[in-house]
Amino acid sequence: MSYKRVTLSHFLLQEQRRRGGTGTFTTLLTDIRTACKMISHEVNRGALAGNLGAAGAENVQGEQQKKLDVLANEIFLHMNELGGSYAGMASEELEGVHQVHGAAGRYLLLFDPLDGSSNIDVNISVGSIFSILRLPDGLDPSSEQAFLQPGVQQVAAGYALYGSSTMLVLTTGEGVNGFTLDQNVGVFVLTHPDMRIPADTDEYAVNASRERYWEPAVRRYVEECKAGKDGPRGRNFNMRWVASMVAEVHRVLCRGGVFLYPADSENLAKGGKLRLMYEANPMAFIIEQAGGRASTGRQRLLEVQPTSLHQRVGVILGSANEVARLEAYHGEQDGR
Ligand code: AHG
Repeated sequence: MSYKRVTLSHFLLQEQRRRGGTGTFTTLLTDIRTACKMISHEVNRGALAGNLGAAGAENVQGEQQKKLDVLANEIFLHMNELGGSYAGMASEELEGVHQVHGAAGRYLLLFDPLDGSSNIDVNISVGSIFSILRLPDGLDPSSEQAFLQPGVQQVAAGYALYGSSTMLVLTTGEGVNGFTLDQNVGVFVLTHPDMRIPADTDEYAVNASRERYWEPAVRRYVEECKAGKDGPRGRNFNMRWVASMVAEVHRVLCRGGVFLYPADSENLAKGGKLRLMYEANPMAFIIEQAGGRASTGRQRLLEVQPTSLHQRVGVILGSANEVARLEAYHGEQDGR
């Protein structure tokens, strides 16, 4: 029966009771849920609300901000500040740490309010990504140092996908659950419990226009996939590229696959393309919790020690056996 559904609120309360929590964590995730619903509404209204197009400013990364980047950032900051559970926040759109006034909270929030923003104006899926860390004892939450924790320290992570449906996918370190927004009722409903990624796959995702910059290990992997059943893999592979990491990771979670945005000769000086703290780490946490694997090619992503808030990193994640194969190819290339 359609009314016999588990909402995200029910799910969080059940988890709170099961773990004997104080409710702080439920508040945190409830505020994120509200922010994602508001962003979903703005993305959905698109041109009708004048939400498309450039904002006319650059962010700290030197990227042109879209109007929706700015709006989503303001929504995320506002909705999560009011709850009082965060000691500090950091965003892709802000250079430094966002100080939470009168903060008494014990948690830190990092987020990319609208990822894949090149897709906004052409009505293709975009998303929000978030990562929650504990405030380490003795550290000032307004200092970058408090945030520079490896991904293994995350206490929760998730993303909202604004696609043909709006979904919120969440991990608190005990598996991955997906919720679909019922737009008429305004609630997220548990539709994808205990998401698991198959260890093997016939699908990969990479921006092939960057091939000339790739390392030999990545080139070898992709060439072997493209050779299909006539090549060393002995079977055909499919390729997809949305240019929206949330959409890409969601596809991998739903049906397996491997997603690559490797460090290459063009982006190596910056460390890669994707941001470690609010893109790679939360996605790596989700992928591992769903039984997949996430790597730089040479190191488990969640063990990379961050040295700056907006640090970039090479990302290879998805079906465990394919990611392990890519790691092996990097090892062979390095003579390990
Ligand atoms: P952002 O929206 O923060 O600019 O980054 C988008 C990211 C990610 O979502 C996607 O996987 C990748 O950049 C797309 O990169 P290309 O433009 O190279 O395809």
